[in-house]
Formats: sequence, C-alpha cells, structure tokens
Amino acid sequence: MDIKPFEHFAIETAKSAGKVLMSYFGKLTHVDNKSTDIDLVTQADMASEELITTAIKKVFSSHNIIAEESDFETIDSDYCWVIDPLDGTTNFVHTLPIFAVSIGLQYKSKTILGVVYNPVYNQCFHATLNGGAFLNNSPLSVSSTNTLSKSLLVTGFPYIHSARWKASFKLFEDFYSSNQGMRRLGAAALDFCFVAMGRFDGFYEFDLQPWDVCAGDLILREAGGETSDWDGAPMPFSGKRILASNGYLHSQMGDILMQKKYRDVFFRD
Ligand code: IPD
Ligand code: CA
Ligand code: CA
Repeated sequence: MDIKPFEHFAIETAKSAGKVLMSYFGKLTHVDNKSTDIDLVTQADMASEELITTAIKKVFSSHNIIAEESDFETIDSDYCWVIDPLDGTTNFVHTLPIFAVSIGLQYKSKTILGVVYNPVYNQCFHATLNGGAFLNNSPLSVSSTNTLSKSLLVTGFPYIHSARWKASFKLFEDFYSSNQGMRRLGAAALDFCFVAMGRFDGFYEFDLQPWDVCAGDLILREAGGETSDWDGAPMPFSGKRILASNGYLHSQMGDILMQKKYRDVFFRD
C-alpha cells in the first residue's frame, strides 16, 4: 500500500488545525465542561475538529472517523481516522504551550500512520508503519537508558476521582522513589512523542482514550520503543492501561505496575 498520499494529507491537515488552535490560544472567551468540572472543552477543540473532519470527508469520503468531540457514525470501510483535535485542553485553557493535534489512521484495525503536531513550537512528529518516526523530517529514536534509577518518566492521572485516582498517586510515589524524576505534562499524545525522541524514558497512564493513544503509539514504536498493556499484552486501542517505554525499561516498569495492590485496583472492570 502507498501510504504517502495519506501521510502528506495528515501532516498538512494537522498543521492547518494547528493554525486554528493558535487563533484561539490566549483568546478564549469561554470554556465548557464535559464529564466533570475538570474535563474541559473549548471553541478551539470544536473548530480544530471541524476542520479535520471536513477535510477527511472531502478527500476520503468512504473512510470511517473516530473523533473526540463528534458522535461516531460507522461507515463500512477498512480505513479509520482517529482524531484528537486538541490534546492538552487544560494546558491550552491556561495558556501552557504543551498541547497538540493528533491524527492517526488505521487500516483493518492496525495503525499505519500517526501525526502529532504542536503548533506553538512548530513541532510535527509523524510515523508510518515500517517507515520510521520523524520530528520535522529528522529521524527520531528512543533513549538508551536501561535502569530505572537513571530514568525520567512521565504519567497522567484519570479525570474520574475514584479509588483508581487515589491509587494513581500511590503508584506515582512508587515510581518516584525508583528514578530520577517524574513529570505530568497533561498531553498524552506528546508524552508518547517525548519518549520517542528520548526526552523521557517511559510513560504509563490509566484511562486514556483511542484518540489520545493512536498516533503517539505508532510514533513511539517506529522510533524503536515499545508499547503494551501494563501486563505486557498488546496495547489496548481503548487506551485503558498504557505502558510505553524505550524498550529497555519496559519490564522494570511493568514490575511496578503489576504489583498485586495495583492489579487489584486497575484490572477490575
Ligand atoms: C487529556 C490529556 C491528558 C490525559 C487525559 C486526556 P484532552 O486529553 O491527554 O494528558 O491525562 O486523560 O484526556 O482531554 O486534553 O484531549
Ligand atoms: Ca486527549
Ligand atoms: Ca482533546
């Protein structure tokens, strides 16, 4: 399959959506809530998604689309675009420049293309299946850190304040006592990309969504990293439990995540 036309389209569309985001950055007139008081959505999310979905419907009208802010209509297609029009909305609302547009493309449920674009720094991460990962066209590769004690890791916390939310802080503490530092940036798509470029050595999170993980997962794997469920099973497209690393630290991180006290909390339905 020739991925090039999709690749060019996705990069250009992510950059156009990034322009839309920048037109709202620092100028939002109001912010709405979704599931909870801390789950936010803005005019920027909506306008970026509108641009991306309109472009896909125009150029690839027979393809499926899963996009965070839209109802999902199923078309009988082998192709599915997976869109987060603004990953890092809370950062965006507070004018923290850590956010991105994320566009993934799946063929028969396998991700073949991922683009993550941060318009503030004009940083475009992208990867195609078996084609490598790039930042603004320079090849990316993961770090070579192979002991947790020398690592810098990143994570996030679920929106829903349940027992799992509390356990996430305990887990954070366990990791923190084993490495050089932990960060919580608030934009999962960029968390994957920052592991892909070697800034971070690993990333884990609970309760992400397909649009948070689809593009970043491929970018990291194409940069030489590894992604999975916390127990080492294939990474769930749902985003439920994500373990992403440079590969060298995967099992060490898995050992911490799979302690019985966490298994009992995070593996219940
Ligand atoms: C959020 C970010 C954040 C993660 C949340 C996501 P949004 O995406 O990726 O890092 O911790 O779970 O929902 O809502 O800003 O698109
Ligand atoms: Ca997101
Ligand atoms: Ca979003």
